[in-house]
Amino acid sequence: MAGKWLDEAVFYEIYPQSFKDSNADGIGDINGIIEKLDYIRELGCDAVWMNPCFDSPFVDAGYDVRDFYKVAERYRTNEDLKRLCTAMHEKGMHLILDLVAGHTSVECEWFRQSCLPEKNKYTDRYVWTDTVWNAPNNVGNIMGWLRGGYDRDGSAAVNFFTAQPALNYGFAVKDEGCDWEQSVDDEGPMSTRAELKNIMKFWLDMGVDGFRVDMAGSLVKNDPGSQGTISLWQDIRKWLDREYPDAVIVSEWGEADKALKAGFDMDFVLHFGPSHYPDLFRTEHPYFAGHGSAEAFFDVYLNNLAKTKDGNGLICIPSGNHDMYRLARTLTPDEIRIAFAFLLTMPGIPFIYYGDELGMNYVEGLHSKEGGYYRTGSRSPMQWDRSVNAGFSNAPASMLYVPQDTAHMDQINAETEMNDPDSIWNEVRRLIALRQQHPSLSGRSDFRMINYHGYPLVYERSSGTERILVILNPSENDIRMDTGTAGTVLYSFAQKEIRDHVIPAKSAFIILQ
Ligand code: NOJ
Repeated sequence: MAGKWLDEAVFYEIYPQSFKDSNADGIGDINGIIEKLDYIRELGCDAVWMNPCFDSPFVDAGYDVRDFYKVAERYRTNEDLKRLCTAMHEKGMHLILDLVAGHTSVECEWFRQSCLPEKNKYTDRYVWTDTVWNAPNNVGNIMGWLRGGYDRDGSAAVNFFTAQPALNYGFAVKDEGCDWEQSVDDEGPMSTRAELKNIMKFWLDMGVDGFRVDMAGSLVKNDPGSQGTISLWQDIRKWLDREYPDAVIVSEWGEADKALKAGFDMDFVLHFGPSHYPDLFRTEHPYFAGHGSAEAFFDVYLNNLAKTKDGNGLICIPSGNHDMYRLARTLTPDEIRIAFAFLLTMPGIPFIYYGDELGMNYVEGLHSKEGGYYRTGSRSPMQWDRSVNAGFSNAPASMLYVPQDTAHMDQINAETEMNDPDSIWNEVRRLIALRQQHPSLSGRSDFRMINYHGYPLVYERSSGTERILVILNPSENDIRMDTGTAGTVLYSFAQKEIRDHVIPAKSAFIILQ
Protein backbone atom coordinates (compact mmCIF):
# COMPACT_ATOMS: atom_id res chain seq x y z
CA MET A 1 0.00 0.00 0.00
CA ALA A 2 1.51 3.24 -1.16
CA GLY A 3 2.06 6.54 0.57
CA LYS A 4 -0.77 8.26 2.35
CA TRP A 5 -0.23 11.34 0.19
CA LEU A 6 -2.42 9.86 -2.53
CA ASP A 7 -5.60 9.80 -0.43
CA GLU A 8 -5.72 13.58 -0.18
CA ALA A 9 -4.30 14.45 -3.59
CA VAL A 10 -5.92 16.33 -6.46
CA PHE A 11 -4.19 15.56 -9.75
CA TYR A 12 -3.60 17.68 -12.81
CA GLU A 13 -2.79 15.86 -16.04
CA ILE A 14 -0.17 17.51 -18.23
CA TYR A 15 0.24 16.62 -21.86
CA PRO A 16 3.79 17.95 -22.06
CA GLN A 17 3.79 18.77 -25.78
CA SER A 18 1.00 21.27 -25.25
CA PHE A 19 1.48 22.80 -21.84
CA LYS A 20 4.17 25.47 -21.97
CA ASP A 21 6.98 25.97 -24.44
CA SER A 22 10.01 27.63 -22.82
CA ASN A 23 12.39 27.59 -25.81
CA ALA A 24 10.20 28.78 -28.69
CA ASP A 25 10.28 25.57 -30.74
CA GLY A 26 6.48 25.27 -30.68
CA ILE A 27 6.48 22.23 -28.36
CA GLY A 28 6.02 22.29 -24.61
CA ASP A 29 8.88 21.17 -22.38
CA ILE A 30 9.84 20.40 -18.82
CA ASN A 31 11.17 23.87 -18.08
CA GLY A 32 7.80 25.21 -19.17
CA ILE A 33 6.11 22.95 -16.64
CA ILE A 34 8.45 24.15 -13.90
CA GLU A 35 7.50 27.75 -14.77
CA LYS A 36 3.83 26.92 -14.33
CA LEU A 37 3.88 24.91 -11.11
CA ASP A 38 2.59 27.86 -9.10
CA TYR A 39 -0.40 28.06 -11.42
CA ILE A 40 -1.26 24.41 -10.75
CA ARG A 41 -0.77 24.92 -7.02
CA GLU A 42 -2.98 28.00 -7.04
CA LEU A 43 -5.78 26.04 -8.62
CA GLY A 44 -5.41 23.66 -5.68
CA CYS A 45 -3.89 20.65 -7.42
CA ASP A 46 -0.94 19.12 -5.63
CA ALA A 47 -0.03 16.24 -7.91
CA VAL A 48 0.69 15.87 -11.61
CA TRP A 49 0.43 13.01 -14.07
CA MET A 50 2.66 13.80 -17.00
CA ASN A 51 2.06 11.90 -20.25
CA PRO A 52 5.08 10.04 -21.70
CA CYS A 53 8.26 12.05 -21.76
CA PHE A 54 10.81 9.43 -22.80
CA ASP A 55 12.80 9.24 -26.01
CA SER A 56 10.48 8.24 -28.83
CA PRO A 57 9.82 8.62 -32.56
CA PHE A 58 6.38 9.91 -31.48
CA VAL A 59 4.26 7.73 -33.73
CA ASP A 60 1.82 7.57 -30.81
CA ALA A 61 2.67 10.80 -28.99
CA GLY A 62 5.38 9.11 -26.92
CA TYR A 63 3.45 5.94 -26.09
CA ASP A 64 6.00 4.35 -28.43
CA VAL A 65 9.11 4.46 -26.30
CA ARG A 66 12.55 4.12 -27.90
CA ASP A 67 14.63 4.52 -24.74
CA PHE A 68 13.02 4.17 -21.33
CA TYR A 69 15.98 5.71 -19.55
CA LYS A 70 16.19 9.00 -21.42
CA VAL A 71 13.96 12.05 -21.52
CA ALA A 72 13.00 12.94 -25.11
CA GLU A 73 15.13 15.74 -26.49
CA ARG A 74 12.07 17.87 -27.22
CA TYR A 75 11.45 18.03 -23.46
CA ARG A 76 15.20 18.52 -22.85
CA THR A 77 17.12 16.35 -20.39
CA ASN A 78 17.01 13.90 -17.51
CA GLU A 79 18.50 16.68 -15.41
CA ASP A 80 15.46 18.84 -16.18
CA LEU A 81 13.16 16.07 -15.03
CA LYS A 82 15.13 15.80 -11.83
CA ARG A 83 14.76 19.56 -11.33
CA LEU A 84 11.03 19.23 -11.91
CA CYS A 85 10.81 16.60 -9.15
CA THR A 86 12.78 18.75 -6.76
CA ALA A 87 10.75 21.87 -7.56
CA MET A 88 7.52 19.96 -7.04
CA HIS A 89 8.59 18.44 -3.75
CA GLU A 90 9.61 21.88 -2.50
CA LYS A 91 6.05 23.00 -3.17
CA GLY A 92 4.54 19.95 -1.47
CA MET A 93 3.57 18.40 -4.81
CA HIS A 94 3.99 14.93 -6.29
CA LEU A 95 4.76 13.75 -9.80
CA ILE A 96 3.77 10.51 -11.50
CA LEU A 97 5.10 9.57 -14.92
CA ASP A 98 3.41 7.57 -17.63
CA LEU A 99 4.82 4.05 -17.69
CA VAL A 100 4.23 2.26 -20.97
CA ALA A 101 4.69 -1.25 -19.66
CA GLY A 102 3.14 -3.30 -22.44
CA HIS A 103 5.06 -2.28 -25.54
CA THR A 104 7.86 -0.22 -27.03
CA SER A 105 8.50 1.55 -30.29
CA VAL A 106 9.70 -0.55 -33.23
CA GLU A 107 12.74 1.75 -33.03
CA CYS A 108 13.64 0.58 -29.53
CA GLU A 109 17.08 -1.09 -29.57
CA TRP A 110 15.60 -4.13 -27.79
CA PHE A 111 13.23 -4.64 -30.68
CA ARG A 112 15.94 -4.19 -33.31
CA GLN A 113 18.02 -6.86 -31.58
CA SER A 114 15.00 -9.07 -31.22
CA CYS A 115 14.44 -8.93 -35.00
CA LEU A 116 17.82 -10.52 -35.67
CA PRO A 117 17.86 -14.19 -36.67
CA GLU A 118 20.77 -14.95 -34.31
CA LYS A 119 19.82 -15.65 -30.72
CA ASN A 120 20.73 -12.77 -28.43
CA LYS A 121 19.79 -11.12 -25.14
CA TYR A 122 16.60 -9.65 -26.64
CA THR A 123 15.35 -12.62 -28.65
CA ASP A 124 12.60 -13.27 -26.11
CA ARG A 125 11.95 -9.66 -25.04
CA TYR A 126 8.90 -9.55 -27.37
CA VAL A 127 6.15 -12.00 -28.26
CA TRP A 128 7.16 -13.82 -31.44
CA THR A 129 5.60 -16.74 -33.27
CA ASP A 130 7.82 -19.48 -34.67
CA THR A 131 7.46 -18.52 -38.33
CA VAL A 132 6.40 -15.45 -40.29
CA TRP A 133 3.58 -17.54 -41.77
CA ASN A 134 2.01 -17.94 -38.33
CA ALA A 135 0.02 -14.97 -37.03
CA PRO A 136 -3.01 -16.34 -35.19
CA ASN A 137 -6.25 -14.43 -34.75
CA ASN A 138 -8.06 -13.72 -31.52
CA VAL A 139 -5.29 -14.28 -29.00
CA GLY A 140 -6.23 -12.50 -25.75
CA ASN A 141 -4.36 -9.19 -25.27
CA ILE A 142 -2.80 -9.26 -28.75
CA MET A 143 -4.03 -6.59 -31.17
CA GLY A 144 -2.32 -7.83 -34.34
CA TRP A 145 1.02 -8.88 -35.76
CA LEU A 146 4.06 -7.43 -37.46
CA ARG A 147 5.12 -9.68 -40.29
CA GLY A 148 8.16 -9.41 -42.55
CA GLY A 149 10.57 -6.50 -42.81
CA TYR A 150 13.27 -8.23 -40.74
CA ASP A 151 15.32 -11.39 -41.01
CA ARG A 152 13.94 -13.31 -38.06
CA ASP A 153 11.46 -15.93 -39.21
CA GLY A 154 8.46 -15.11 -37.02
CA SER A 155 5.60 -12.65 -36.49
CA ALA A 156 5.83 -10.14 -33.66
CA ALA A 157 2.72 -9.42 -31.60
CA VAL A 158 1.42 -5.86 -31.55
CA ASN A 159 -0.03 -4.28 -28.40
CA PHE A 160 -1.69 -1.20 -29.89
CA PHE A 161 -0.72 0.52 -33.17
CA THR A 162 1.48 -1.58 -35.46
CA ALA A 163 4.55 0.49 -34.49
CA GLN A 164 4.13 -0.76 -30.89
CA PRO A 165 5.32 -4.38 -30.56
CA ALA A 166 4.21 -6.22 -27.42
CA LEU A 167 6.75 -6.92 -24.72
CA ASN A 168 6.88 -10.54 -23.66
CA TYR A 169 5.51 -11.18 -20.18
CA GLY A 170 4.43 -14.68 -21.16
CA PHE A 171 1.12 -16.46 -21.69
CA ALA A 172 -1.20 -17.42 -18.85
CA VAL A 173 -2.76 -20.23 -20.90
CA LYS A 174 -0.66 -21.87 -23.59
CA ASP A 175 -2.05 -23.81 -26.52
CA GLU A 176 -1.13 -27.43 -26.34
CA GLY A 177 1.90 -28.25 -28.45
CA CYS A 178 2.67 -24.59 -29.11
CA ASP A 179 6.37 -23.92 -28.55
CA TRP A 180 6.56 -20.20 -29.19
CA GLU A 181 4.12 -19.22 -26.42
CA GLN A 182 6.20 -18.85 -23.28
CA SER A 183 5.07 -19.22 -19.67
CA VAL A 184 5.07 -16.19 -17.41
CA ASP A 185 7.94 -17.64 -15.42
CA ASP A 186 10.14 -18.56 -18.39
CA GLU A 187 13.45 -16.79 -18.68
CA GLY A 188 12.40 -14.30 -21.40
CA PRO A 189 9.24 -13.05 -19.64
CA MET A 190 11.04 -12.90 -16.29
CA SER A 191 13.81 -10.78 -17.78
CA THR A 192 11.21 -8.41 -19.29
CA ARG A 193 9.66 -8.11 -15.84
CA ALA A 194 13.07 -7.44 -14.28
CA GLU A 195 13.68 -4.70 -16.86
CA LEU A 196 10.32 -3.12 -16.01
CA LYS A 197 11.40 -2.95 -12.37
CA ASN A 198 14.70 -1.43 -13.45
CA ILE A 199 12.88 1.30 -15.36
CA MET A 200 10.69 2.04 -12.35
CA LYS A 201 13.69 2.03 -10.05
CA PHE A 202 15.62 4.40 -12.30
CA TRP A 203 12.94 7.10 -12.20
CA LEU A 204 11.91 6.55 -8.60
CA ASP A 205 15.56 7.00 -7.62
CA MET A 206 15.53 10.24 -9.56
CA GLY A 207 12.65 11.45 -7.39
CA VAL A 208 9.40 10.69 -9.18
CA ASP A 209 6.57 9.59 -6.90
CA GLY A 210 4.99 6.87 -8.98
CA PHE A 211 3.43 5.96 -12.30
CA ARG A 212 0.24 5.93 -14.27
CA VAL A 213 0.54 2.60 -16.03
CA ASP A 214 -0.54 2.47 -19.64
CA MET A 215 -2.74 -0.50 -20.64
CA ALA A 216 -1.92 -2.12 -17.31
CA GLY A 217 -4.20 -5.10 -17.91
CA SER A 218 -2.59 -6.04 -21.23
CA LEU A 219 0.71 -7.55 -20.14
CA VAL A 220 0.21 -11.30 -19.97
CA LYS A 221 -1.22 -12.78 -23.14
CA ASN A 222 -4.11 -15.22 -23.39
CA ASP A 223 -5.00 -14.42 -19.81
CA PRO A 224 -8.63 -15.29 -19.07
CA GLY A 225 -9.81 -13.48 -15.93
CA SER A 226 -6.47 -11.56 -16.01
CA GLN A 227 -5.02 -13.82 -13.32
CA GLY A 228 -1.56 -13.87 -14.89
CA THR A 229 -1.41 -10.09 -15.19
CA ILE A 230 -2.78 -9.68 -11.66
CA SER A 231 -0.06 -11.93 -10.23
CA LEU A 232 2.61 -10.07 -12.16
CA TRP A 233 1.56 -6.73 -10.72
CA GLN A 234 1.22 -8.24 -7.25
CA ASP A 235 4.87 -9.18 -7.51
CA ILE A 236 5.76 -5.64 -8.55
CA ARG A 237 3.64 -4.21 -5.73
CA LYS A 238 5.45 -6.40 -3.21
CA TRP A 239 8.78 -5.18 -4.52
CA LEU A 240 7.60 -1.54 -4.40
CA ASP A 241 6.32 -1.93 -0.85
CA ARG A 242 9.73 -3.17 0.14
CA GLU A 243 11.88 -0.72 -1.80
CA TYR A 244 9.68 2.34 -2.41
CA PRO A 245 6.81 2.26 0.09
CA ASP A 246 5.61 5.75 -0.84
CA ALA A 247 5.40 5.06 -4.57
CA VAL A 248 1.96 5.23 -6.12
CA ILE A 249 0.76 3.23 -9.12
CA VAL A 250 -2.46 4.11 -10.91
CA SER A 251 -3.73 1.89 -13.67
CA GLU A 252 -5.29 2.39 -17.02
CA TRP A 253 -7.21 -0.87 -16.68
CA GLY A 254 -10.90 0.02 -16.41
CA GLU A 255 -11.70 -2.94 -14.15
CA ALA A 256 -11.11 -1.68 -10.64
CA ASP A 257 -11.71 -4.97 -8.87
CA LYS A 258 -8.89 -6.61 -10.85
CA ALA A 259 -6.58 -3.59 -10.79
CA LEU A 260 -6.85 -3.07 -7.03
CA LYS A 261 -6.40 -6.76 -6.39
CA ALA A 262 -3.28 -6.54 -8.55
CA GLY A 263 -1.90 -3.94 -6.14
CA PHE A 264 -2.68 -0.70 -7.94
CA ASP A 265 -3.58 2.15 -5.63
CA MET A 266 -6.27 3.34 -7.98
CA ASP A 267 -7.85 2.49 -11.31
CA PHE A 268 -9.48 4.81 -13.84
CA VAL A 269 -12.97 4.46 -15.25
CA LEU A 270 -12.35 4.60 -18.97
CA HIS A 271 -14.18 6.01 -21.95
CA PHE A 272 -14.26 2.54 -23.54
CA GLY A 273 -15.15 -0.89 -22.19
CA PRO A 274 -18.03 -1.59 -19.83
CA SER A 275 -17.91 1.59 -17.69
CA HIS A 276 -20.64 3.72 -19.37
CA TYR A 277 -18.49 6.71 -18.38
CA PRO A 278 -19.30 8.53 -21.66
CA ASP A 279 -22.98 8.58 -20.58
CA LEU A 280 -22.07 11.23 -18.02
CA PHE A 281 -20.44 13.81 -20.26
CA ARG A 282 -19.79 12.66 -23.79
CA THR A 283 -22.70 10.95 -25.54
CA GLU A 284 -25.19 12.70 -27.76
CA HIS A 285 -27.39 13.15 -24.68
CA PRO A 286 -25.07 13.20 -21.69
CA TYR A 287 -26.46 13.15 -18.18
CA PHE A 288 -24.68 16.37 -17.25
CA ALA A 289 -26.22 18.18 -20.21
CA GLY A 290 -29.53 17.53 -18.51
CA HIS A 291 -31.21 15.10 -20.83
CA GLY A 292 -29.50 11.75 -20.37
CA SER A 293 -29.30 8.85 -17.99
CA ALA A 294 -26.58 7.98 -15.51
CA GLU A 295 -28.17 4.70 -14.48
CA ALA A 296 -25.97 2.34 -16.46
CA PHE A 297 -22.86 4.21 -15.32
CA PHE A 298 -23.77 4.00 -11.65
CA ASP A 299 -24.88 0.38 -11.89
CA VAL A 300 -21.35 -0.50 -13.02
CA TYR A 301 -19.58 2.00 -10.76
CA LEU A 302 -21.41 1.02 -7.57
CA ASN A 303 -20.87 -2.63 -8.30
CA ASN A 304 -17.14 -2.04 -8.80
CA LEU A 305 -16.91 0.14 -5.71
CA ALA A 306 -18.52 -2.60 -3.64
CA LYS A 307 -16.00 -5.11 -4.96
CA THR A 308 -12.93 -3.02 -4.16
CA LYS A 309 -11.39 -3.13 -0.73
CA ASP A 310 -14.65 -3.31 1.21
CA GLY A 311 -16.16 -0.48 -0.76
CA ASN A 312 -13.53 2.17 -0.24
CA GLY A 313 -10.92 1.31 -2.83
CA LEU A 314 -9.95 4.16 -5.10
CA ILE A 315 -11.62 4.49 -8.48
CA CYS A 316 -10.92 7.67 -10.42
CA ILE A 317 -13.54 9.41 -12.52
CA PRO A 318 -11.36 11.84 -14.53
CA SER A 319 -12.55 15.11 -16.06
CA GLY A 320 -11.12 13.80 -19.30
CA ASN A 321 -7.74 12.88 -20.71
CA HIS A 322 -5.66 13.05 -23.87
CA ASP A 323 -7.68 10.18 -25.41
CA MET A 324 -11.17 11.68 -25.02
CA TYR A 325 -13.16 14.55 -26.43
CA ARG A 326 -13.05 17.53 -24.12
CA LEU A 327 -15.96 18.21 -21.77
CA ALA A 328 -16.69 21.49 -23.56
CA ARG A 329 -17.62 19.66 -26.75
CA THR A 330 -20.86 18.42 -25.22
CA LEU A 331 -21.45 20.58 -22.14
CA THR A 332 -22.14 24.30 -21.76
CA PRO A 333 -19.95 26.29 -19.35
CA ASP A 334 -22.63 26.01 -16.62
CA GLU A 335 -22.92 22.29 -17.17
CA ILE A 336 -19.14 22.00 -16.89
CA ARG A 337 -19.36 23.72 -13.50
CA ILE A 338 -21.98 21.25 -12.30
CA ALA A 339 -19.86 18.39 -13.69
CA PHE A 340 -16.93 19.64 -11.60
CA ALA A 341 -19.14 19.76 -8.49
CA PHE A 342 -19.64 16.05 -9.16
CA LEU A 343 -16.02 15.18 -10.03
CA LEU A 344 -14.66 16.96 -6.97
CA THR A 345 -17.07 15.43 -4.45
CA MET A 346 -16.95 11.81 -5.55
CA PRO A 347 -14.79 9.15 -3.89
CA GLY A 348 -11.48 8.34 -5.56
CA ILE A 349 -8.85 10.89 -6.45
CA PRO A 350 -9.79 13.61 -8.94
CA PHE A 351 -7.79 14.01 -12.14
CA ILE A 352 -8.23 17.26 -14.05
CA TYR A 353 -7.05 17.26 -17.65
CA TYR A 354 -5.08 20.45 -18.38
CA GLY A 355 -7.36 23.16 -19.75
CA ASP A 356 -10.59 21.52 -18.53
CA GLU A 357 -10.43 23.92 -15.57
CA LEU A 358 -10.85 26.72 -18.12
CA GLY A 359 -13.51 24.98 -20.18
CA MET A 360 -11.06 24.77 -23.10
CA ASN A 361 -12.67 23.57 -26.30
CA TYR A 362 -12.13 20.51 -28.39
CA VAL A 363 -10.64 21.94 -31.60
CA GLU A 364 -12.65 20.50 -34.47
CA GLY A 365 -11.30 19.52 -37.87
CA LEU A 366 -7.58 19.19 -37.11
CA HIS A 367 -5.29 16.88 -39.04
CA SER A 368 -4.03 14.02 -36.92
CA LYS A 369 -0.78 14.72 -35.12
CA GLU A 370 1.50 11.95 -33.85
CA GLY A 371 -1.15 9.25 -33.84
CA GLY A 372 -3.78 11.48 -32.28
CA TYR A 373 -6.54 11.10 -34.92
CA TYR A 374 -9.80 12.26 -33.28
CA ARG A 375 -7.83 12.81 -30.06
CA THR A 376 -5.78 15.62 -31.62
CA GLY A 377 -8.53 18.19 -30.96
CA SER A 378 -8.19 17.57 -27.22
CA ARG A 379 -4.43 18.09 -27.31
CA SER A 380 -4.22 21.72 -28.39
CA PRO A 381 -1.82 24.08 -26.60
CA MET A 382 -2.79 25.43 -23.21
CA GLN A 383 -4.31 28.91 -23.26
CA TRP A 384 -2.48 31.02 -20.71
CA ASP A 385 -3.25 34.64 -21.51
CA ARG A 386 -4.08 37.09 -24.30
CA SER A 387 -0.54 37.43 -25.63
CA VAL A 388 0.77 35.79 -28.79
CA ASN A 389 -0.20 32.09 -29.09
CA ALA A 390 -2.21 32.58 -25.89
CA GLY A 391 1.09 32.65 -24.00
CA PHE A 392 1.92 29.05 -24.88
CA SER A 393 4.97 29.68 -27.06
CA ASN A 394 7.00 32.40 -28.73
CA ALA A 395 7.33 30.35 -31.90
CA PRO A 396 5.40 31.36 -35.03
CA ALA A 397 1.84 30.00 -34.86
CA SER A 398 2.56 27.71 -37.81
CA MET A 399 5.16 25.88 -35.71
CA LEU A 400 2.90 25.06 -32.78
CA TYR A 401 2.55 21.38 -31.94
CA VAL A 402 -1.15 21.50 -32.76
CA PRO A 403 -3.13 24.59 -33.87
CA GLN A 404 -4.89 26.50 -31.11
CA ASP A 405 -8.52 27.37 -30.54
CA THR A 406 -7.90 30.85 -31.99
CA ALA A 407 -11.58 31.83 -32.06
CA HIS A 408 -12.01 31.59 -28.28
CA MET A 409 -8.63 31.99 -26.64
CA ASP A 410 -9.14 35.67 -25.88
CA GLN A 411 -11.94 34.71 -23.48
CA ILE A 412 -10.88 31.21 -22.50
CA ASN A 413 -7.44 31.58 -20.95
CA ALA A 414 -5.96 31.26 -17.48
CA GLU A 415 -5.21 34.93 -16.88
CA THR A 416 -8.67 36.17 -17.83
CA GLU A 417 -10.41 33.46 -15.85
CA MET A 418 -8.30 33.83 -12.74
CA ASN A 419 -9.38 37.48 -12.65
CA ASP A 420 -13.06 36.68 -13.03
CA PRO A 421 -14.65 35.40 -9.81
CA ASP A 422 -17.44 33.74 -11.82
CA SER A 423 -15.17 31.81 -14.20
CA ILE A 424 -15.00 28.03 -14.45
CA TRP A 425 -11.43 28.31 -13.14
CA ASN A 426 -12.59 29.99 -9.93
CA GLU A 427 -15.44 27.55 -9.55
CA VAL A 428 -13.02 24.63 -9.81
CA ARG A 429 -10.65 26.30 -7.36
CA ARG A 430 -13.44 26.78 -4.80
CA LEU A 431 -14.55 23.17 -5.18
CA ILE A 432 -11.02 21.83 -4.73
CA ALA A 433 -10.57 23.99 -1.62
CA LEU A 434 -13.83 22.65 -0.21
CA ARG A 435 -12.74 19.08 -0.88
CA GLN A 436 -9.48 19.71 0.89
CA GLN A 437 -11.18 21.29 3.93
CA HIS A 438 -13.64 18.46 4.53
CA PRO A 439 -12.49 14.96 5.44
CA SER A 440 -15.82 13.53 4.20
CA LEU A 441 -14.92 14.56 0.68
CA SER A 442 -11.54 12.87 0.56
CA GLY A 443 -10.74 9.85 -1.60
CA ARG A 444 -11.57 6.98 0.71
CA SER A 445 -14.31 8.52 2.85
CA ASP A 446 -17.65 6.79 2.91
CA PHE A 447 -20.07 7.11 0.07
CA ARG A 448 -23.79 6.44 0.09
CA MET A 449 -25.80 6.77 -3.08
CA ILE A 450 -29.26 8.23 -2.52
CA ASN A 451 -30.61 8.74 -6.02
CA TYR A 452 -29.24 8.18 -9.50
CA HIS A 453 -32.47 7.37 -11.28
CA GLY A 454 -33.23 10.39 -13.41
CA TYR A 455 -32.58 13.77 -11.80
CA PRO A 456 -31.37 15.02 -9.37
CA LEU A 457 -28.28 13.01 -8.54
CA VAL A 458 -28.05 12.78 -4.75
CA TYR A 459 -25.40 11.17 -2.60
CA GLU A 460 -23.83 11.45 0.78
CA ARG A 461 -20.17 11.50 1.79
CA SER A 462 -19.15 11.02 5.39
CA SER A 463 -16.19 10.62 7.69
CA GLY A 464 -16.39 10.30 11.47
CA THR A 465 -19.22 12.56 12.55
CA GLU A 466 -19.12 14.76 9.45
CA ARG A 467 -21.78 14.17 6.81
CA ILE A 468 -22.07 16.00 3.53
CA LEU A 469 -24.98 15.79 1.14
CA VAL A 470 -24.42 16.49 -2.56
CA ILE A 471 -27.40 17.34 -4.77
CA LEU A 472 -26.84 17.90 -8.48
CA ASN A 473 -29.56 18.81 -10.89
CA PRO A 474 -28.13 19.40 -14.36
CA SER A 475 -31.60 19.05 -15.89
CA GLU A 476 -33.71 21.90 -17.22
CA ASN A 477 -36.49 21.24 -14.74
CA ASP A 478 -37.10 22.25 -11.16
CA ILE A 479 -37.63 19.00 -9.28
CA ARG A 480 -39.49 18.45 -6.04
CA MET A 481 -37.74 15.91 -3.85
CA ASP A 482 -37.37 15.64 -0.12
CA THR A 483 -33.66 15.07 0.24
CA GLY A 484 -33.48 16.04 3.90
CA THR A 485 -31.60 19.17 2.98
CA ALA A 486 -31.35 20.81 6.37
CA GLY A 487 -27.83 21.95 7.11
CA THR A 488 -25.24 24.49 6.14
CA VAL A 489 -24.89 25.09 2.42
CA LEU A 490 -21.16 24.95 1.73
CA TYR A 491 -21.54 25.46 -1.97
CA SER A 492 -24.37 26.36 -4.26
CA PHE A 493 -23.82 26.86 -7.94
CA ALA A 494 -24.92 30.37 -9.02
CA GLN A 495 -26.26 31.02 -5.48
CA LYS A 496 -29.40 29.06 -6.19
CA GLU A 497 -31.55 27.96 -3.26
CA ILE A 498 -33.66 24.94 -2.36
CA ARG A 499 -37.12 26.11 -1.22
CA ASP A 500 -40.00 23.82 -0.25
CA HIS A 501 -37.95 20.80 -1.36
CA VAL A 502 -37.70 22.11 -4.90
CA ILE A 503 -34.28 21.54 -6.42
CA PRO A 504 -33.90 24.23 -9.07
CA ALA A 505 -32.95 23.44 -12.65
CA LYS A 506 -29.21 23.57 -13.45
CA SER A 507 -28.10 23.60 -9.84
CA ALA A 508 -25.53 22.00 -7.56
CA PHE A 509 -25.53 21.96 -3.76
CA ILE A 510 -23.01 20.72 -1.25
CA ILE A 511 -24.58 20.72 2.21
CA LEU A 512 -22.98 20.01 5.56
CA GLN A 513 -25.51 18.16 7.71
C1 NOJ B 1 -3.45 4.45 -23.79
C2 NOJ B 1 -2.93 5.84 -23.93
O1 NOJ B 1 -3.64 6.70 -23.08
C3 NOJ B 1 -3.09 6.21 -25.39
O2 NOJ B 1 -2.87 7.57 -25.62
C4 NOJ B 1 -2.16 5.34 -26.20
O3 NOJ B 1 -2.36 5.60 -27.57
C5 NOJ B 1 -2.41 3.86 -25.92
N1 NOJ B 1 -2.61 3.57 -24.54
C6 NOJ B 1 -1.25 3.01 -26.40
O4 NOJ B 1 -0.15 3.13 -25.55
